[in-house]
Amino acid sequence: MNAADPNEILDDEAALQLDANGNLRHLLTLKGLDRALLTDILDDAEGYLTAPGDLPARSQSLAGRTVGNLFFEPSTRTRASFDLAGKRLGADVLNLDVNTSSRKKGESILDTIYTLQAMHVDIMVVRDASDGVPAYIARHVQPHVSILNAGESDVSHPTQGLLDVLTIRQHKGAFENLTIAIVGDIRHSRVAMSATHALTTLGVGDLRLISPPVLAPDADKVPGAHIVDNLAEGIADADVVMALRIQRERIGNLDGIPGIDEYFANYGVSHDSMKLARPDAIVMHPGPMNRGIEIEGSLADGSQSVITQQVTNGVAVRMAVLDRVGKTMAAR
Ligand code: NCD
Repeated sequence: MNAADPNEILDDEAALQLDANGNLRHLLTLKGLDRALLTDILDDAEGYLTAPGDLPARSQSLAGRTVGNLFFEPSTRTRASFDLAGKRLGADVLNLDVNTSSRKKGESILDTIYTLQAMHVDIMVVRDASDGVPAYIARHVQPHVSILNAGESDVSHPTQGLLDVLTIRQHKGAFENLTIAIVGDIRHSRVAMSATHALTTLGVGDLRLISPPVLAPDADKVPGAHIVDNLAEGIADADVVMALRIQRERIGNLDGIPGIDEYFANYGVSHDSMKLARPDAIVMHPGPMNRGIEIEGSLADGSQSVITQQVTNGVAVRMAVLDRVGKTMAAR
């Protein structure tokens, strides 16, 4: 599944996403998608937002289509929001229970995919713990079928990246003058990777990726970002501070990973550490949160926090992406 050069795989993946007319067919990675397309998706997503208490936006643009959610890793927000997004666009939505599916009996992922394809599942939303799975599936499905990456190992999580930049744009406008600090286990975070892809394409002023050295990313995976190991230095004058969970499930050997108290003291996003950021800085977290480890609970619930708005935006972004691939399908 994996070739030798990871950049080659990504370039290939980026090309695989668009059809011959440049329309979005699969969403596998934000890397390689241009600024105009990212901006169009964000604009579309904004059109699906309604005020709290009002009815959520609905359309019938995916009526007759079927969306299949295949989550081979745990998920709360991403899975629920793809489910709601599909239903609010009029699609039939199948939430495959992977724990009782035949993949548990040794069926290959492709056989599972071909089975669903034979049932007219036209859009498959896939989360998997292995690198390359969404692109691998995309290369094997029929030409009308779309694959949407809902979280791929530590590689990418494109709809999360989109909802994060939408949230930032709503609060801060243009990206050029912004200082954005992402704090936590950057090395194992697909959220950090997709945010980095989107923010660099959108022209962010200064992107700082802050972590203990043992959780720092490889520099070649995050071109354009500054890798920082000191929280005070990284958070100074930031407009946006995003905290990330330590991805213990992706860390084979926990030796050298700081204990909880030491981690919170040095890398916790807290009322104290936020004093160094700009007074109007927003606080983000993709969830699930480990309160008291990467983020202080009362900060997550406080006035600077936009965490629940990220969740709301997640449904809107997924509606925008589903609608777009549905239109590409219809134009074939
Ligand atoms: C993240 C994920 O699954 O990558 N959660 C999410 O999709 N909102 C982040 C995480 O698990 O820490």
